[in-house]
Amino acid sequence: MKLKTIAAAAALAVLGASAVIAADEPQVARQQMMKKVGGAMGALAGIAKGEKPYDAEIVKASLSTMSDVSKTFADQFPAGTEAGAETEASPKIWENMDDFKAKTAQLGKAAEATLASLPADQAGVAAALGPIGKDCAACHETYRIKK
Ligand code: HEC
Repeated sequence: MKLKTIAAAAALAVLGASAVIAADEPQVARQQMMKKVGGAMGALAGIAKGEKPYDAEIVKASLSTMSDVSKTFADQFPAGTEAGAETEASPKIWENMDDFKAKTAQLGKAAEATLASLPADQAGVAAALGPIGKDCAACHETYRIKK
């Protein structure tokens, strides 16, 4: 092997190693949390639009998922996880961690308030989705980079 080829292979090996991020890394954990929240939102939207029948258990489970995620989501952004795993997290999170935490808590509050007076039908679910959707957007606008 020529020296140049060896150097290139070594560089590739280094790149390969840093591209591998373990499943328990915070970047992966927080994306998985958001995937769950996205799934929960999808389930609620399906009911709100009448594509799925109203089901109190699904409404409860979806809101509980949002509430649960909001409790630990903001912990998944330790220093050093600004990049990696194709993260869409904006650097602004680390500049405004208190505000980011407040926005996380806001989603939890909205989900818990809705759980406490559970929507009893399709119209109720639709009405509840407005404020919850605003909380998703309020955070994504500032803190999620759309790739
Ligand atoms: C406090 C901030 C915050 C709130 C509130 C929030 N998100 Fe997110 N969301 C993020 C961030 C940050 C990412 C990017 C995470 C990453 O890539 O590391 C994200 C990513 C996502 C993703 C992509 C996950 C993936 O990688 O596949 C979905 C889907 C999503 N959010 C849905 C929602 C929905 C639906 C809501 C509201 C019910 C919501 N989010 C509320 C901050 C938030």
